[in-house]
Formats: sequence, C-alpha cells, structure tokens
Amino acid sequence: MHELPAAGPSATGDSGDSGYSADSGDSWWRSAAIYQLYVRSFADGSGDGVGDLAGVRARLPYLAELGVDAIWFNPWYPSPMSDAGYDISDYRNIEPAFGTLADADAVIREAHGHGIRIIIDVVPNHASDQHPWFAEALAAPPGSAARDRFWFRPGRGASGELPPNNWQSIFGGPAWTRITEPDGAPGEWYLHLFAPEQPDFNWASADVRGEFEDVLRFWFERGADGIRIDSAALLTKDPGLPDVDADAAPGPSHPYTDRDDVHEIYRSWRAVADEYPGRVLIGEIWIPDTGRLARYVGPGELHTVFNFPYLSCPWDAKQLREVIDNTLALHAPVAAPATWVLSNHDVDRIVTRYGRADTAFSLHQRAYFHSFPVDLQLGTRRARAAALLTMALPGGVYIYQGEELGLWEVQDIPDELRQDPIWRRTGGADPGRDGSRVPLPWSGNEPPFGFSPAGATSAPWLPQPKEWRDLTVTAEAGRPGSMLELYRAALRIRRLEPALGDGPMSWLPSADGVLAFDRGGRLRCIANLSAAPIALPRPRADVIIASGPLTGDGLLPTDTAVWLRTS
Ligand code: NOJ
Repeated sequence: MHELPAAGPSATGDSGDSGYSADSGDSWWRSAAIYQLYVRSFADGSGDGVGDLAGVRARLPYLAELGVDAIWFNPWYPSPMSDAGYDISDYRNIEPAFGTLADADAVIREAHGHGIRIIIDVVPNHASDQHPWFAEALAAPPGSAARDRFWFRPGRGASGELPPNNWQSIFGGPAWTRITEPDGAPGEWYLHLFAPEQPDFNWASADVRGEFEDVLRFWFERGADGIRIDSAALLTKDPGLPDVDADAAPGPSHPYTDRDDVHEIYRSWRAVADEYPGRVLIGEIWIPDTGRLARYVGPGELHTVFNFPYLSCPWDAKQLREVIDNTLALHAPVAAPATWVLSNHDVDRIVTRYGRADTAFSLHQRAYFHSFPVDLQLGTRRARAAALLTMALPGGVYIYQGEELGLWEVQDIPDELRQDPIWRRTGGADPGRDGSRVPLPWSGNEPPFGFSPAGATSAPWLPQPKEWRDLTVTAEAGRPGSMLELYRAALRIRRLEPALGDGPMSWLPSADGVLAFDRGGRLRCIANLSAAPIALPRPRADVIIASGPLTGDGLLPTDTAVWLRTS
C-alpha cells in the first residue's frame, strides 16, 4: 500500500538512490501516515533550548523507524515568533533559530533518502508585521498600492478613533489595530483576524495572488511534496467589511469565513501543484458544515482537508461512528480520501482529553476543559485504543509529535513562561496552546531529556515535566506495552497491509458502545468503548495487534481495540 515508488528518472527533489521519486507514487497521500513536526519542540541541535533543523536531521532515522510516510513541518520560515512561526516575515527562507535554507534542502534530501516525503506549512491569510510588504505599506500613504495588499481602512467616529467594524480577533480583542502615519498623525486601521502582529493579506490584490503562486513554486522546486494551507477558509473577505453577527454561519454571506470566492484561489493553486506530479495540497479548514467542506476537495481544488470533527469528537462510540460516517459520506462523491487526526499543536493532547469526564474538545472552551481533573491512566488506555481505531480507518492519518510517546498536555506551565498569544490576549482566561508544545523527551532521567545536547546553553523554551523520564524515546523503545511500540507496530502493519489506508470499509453489527468494521475483507477492527468486556468473534489467534491485554478468558476489555485477521 505505502510502498515507495521504484527508483525512476531523476526529478526535482529526488534523492537519487533511495527509491524516492517525486513524480511517481502520485496518490501516496491517499493512505499516508503523516507526522506533524513542530520544529521548536522536536529536537535542539544547537543547544539554545529551541528545536532546529540540525535536530531534525539527527532524528530522521527515528521517524523512519517509526514508519511514517511524510512529515508536515509547522512553519519554519523567518518569524518574530509572535504566534510561534505563524507570523512569517519571509516565505522563501528559514528562521535563523532553526537553521538555513541549505539545512532545509538537506532535511528534504535526507528525508527523501529515508523514503519520507515533506509537507510544509504555508500561511496565506496573514503575514508578520515585520514582512517587508507590511513595512512598505506603513510607509506608504492611504490608498496606495502598497496598502492595498493588506486591509487598511479609516476608523469610525469623529476622528477615526473607532475600529472600522466590530470584527474580533480569533485570539481575543478587536481584529483591528490603528497605525501612526509616517507624518506622526494617528492614522488608518489594519485588519488582523489573529494577533496584531499578523496583518491579513488582501486576496483581491493581484500582487498577493501572484506572490503565493510563486511561493508554492519555490518550495515545490526545492523538493517539497506538499503544502498544508493554514486557516484556509479565511482568506477572502467581504470588501464592504460589514459588521459581523456573532452567530453568523460560515459561507457566502459571512464576511470572512468560507466565502465562495476562496475557491478560485485554490483552483489556481491546484493548477500550480499539478505542474509538479505527486504534490499535494492540504487545507486547514475549521468549518462545521460538512457539505461546504466537501467543496474544498472537489475536482480541481485541494487534495485533502483536515478532519476536525473527528479530532473534537468525544470518546463515545455513537458519536464517533456518526463523525466517521459523515466524513466518508462527504468525501465519497468527490473521490477524495478522508484524513484522521487525534491531536495537533492547537488542541489539548489526547491522553489528557480522554482522561477527563468530558472527552470532547473545542478551541473556544479550553478553560472549561482544563477545569476537569485528569485520569492519565484512563486517558492513556483510551488513546491507545483510539490510535488503532484511527489507523484502521480509510484514508490518511496524522500523528502529532509526542502522540506516539503518550505525552500529556502540560496544564501547569507557570504563567510567566507561557508564550501563546491566546493566553496574553485573553488576559489568561484561555490557557492557550503551550501545554501541547512542550519539547519532546528523548532520553535520560531529567530535563532536557536529550532534547538539547549536553552542554546546552539554555533550558528548553518551555519546561518539561520531570515525570516524562518514563516517556522518553529511550525509555519506551523496546518496552513491551509502551505507546511508542504500539505506534511502531501499528504503523508497520498499516504499511504492509493492503486492506488498510485508502479503500472500502464496512460496519459490522455490534453491541452498544462498540465500533466494529471490516477493511477489504482481510482485516477487522473492533474498539470496545462500552463499560463491559466483550467477546471477540474469532479465536484469539486471529489478533494481529491489541491496544491492551485481553482478559484471561480472551475478552476485549473496556477502552481497548484490536485488529483481527479475517482471511
Ligand atoms: C492555525 C494554526 O494551526 C495556528 O497555530 C495559528 O495560530 C493560526 N492558524 C494563525 O496562523
């Protein structure tokens, strides 16, 4: 299924002798297991307490052994880091704290050498306020072409002292910031749907459209195999900038979410991607309406979209089944593969979520979820079962770094060390996302747990819990029953098993609280989310892998999943 293409004629980004070839295996993404790599927190090669590309290069063999098909890099570009790299000041370079463009080339080449593809994050909704275009806009007069690349408007009120409309920033506070004009007078306001350091681009500007097509080409030419498109439903805005009703549904009449004209952009991006065979466009789209979501993966648009309803779903068989059915139903008519994701850098880590009395998640209610006590043992058991359930579903799967180690959400980061703008801009009302971004533990018995090399000059940029000594890669490698060994084994089976990944699935009759389905007539997944152990339909010998031990008499316990061989 995930076999790498045989070595073919050299194409851009090829590594030569690895068997990787960018222009073959065109549909690799339909079944891929994609590892989300958050550079700042993955591995620090330089010893400054911040992850970097030297750290990534040193750990590529770990990812190859884990068995992932691709890496998605969170933004790695030069950035003042007002929003952890989602504020980009140069789309064609690498953040100096992470390395150089030559390091990125080496990462791409060496990853390809391991048979791992590279997906990079592109952030088209907004730039950094340090981007040269924004500096140019600030220096230019109102109404100039330089300002037209962003959303500058006069304020309301007698002297323009009020923002142009009532839009609120997704990170809290108004979505507008007033500038001082070059002559020192209080001036226009600019729009930022996120932090003030992230001015929104105006996608009606031909400069903006041309620039991003060029950025895509730049990275495809360097060998990137795919693009993850940040905030993909937000790009276009109603030029009238009307006030928004807090309850307005995303869609054509929403002033800035999921408007119809955003699709033109992705059609032109797709045309660019199609010039480079095997390259994939992946949309980050947080809209609840699955019918509208399907439009992004229609013919001539994106290849896949993230599946946030699955990620937000509670650990509940009925609700999970509903999300799975809806997801498959929305993808079927457009023949796009579904994607499955349990966690990422914006949401609470899964073992923590599943260890709470309320196992759902919503970006807008983080403080509520953090108010629950957490049973980590329970959460870990469920996360193990969820891993097998997720990897058995048809389509692609994402693994957020550290998920494979069973890391938990660090909810007790001291306030003075928190870095997420959400924390600051909500005055601490929302704890923010730092807890899912704590640097990985690799080895040893105390922080920095091998995240930084011996002799490092700084501590990791966020503190690691001392209990993570039991969750380091070294501690888990080879330890029966560890999360790492479960992920390694499941990914290995998934890669070798033709019935897994893309392809059909069929539900089997099952008791309440149980999810049971067949894949391709060869493999069956059963996840028991009910309160009691259940009998397995086939003899124990057919178990290929289980998320936890079966009972002495061969029953499948609560919060446990298995894959069974059926042929
Ligand atoms: C979505 C990204 O996943 C998130 O981390 C970021 O803060 C926002 N987009 C703004 O770029």
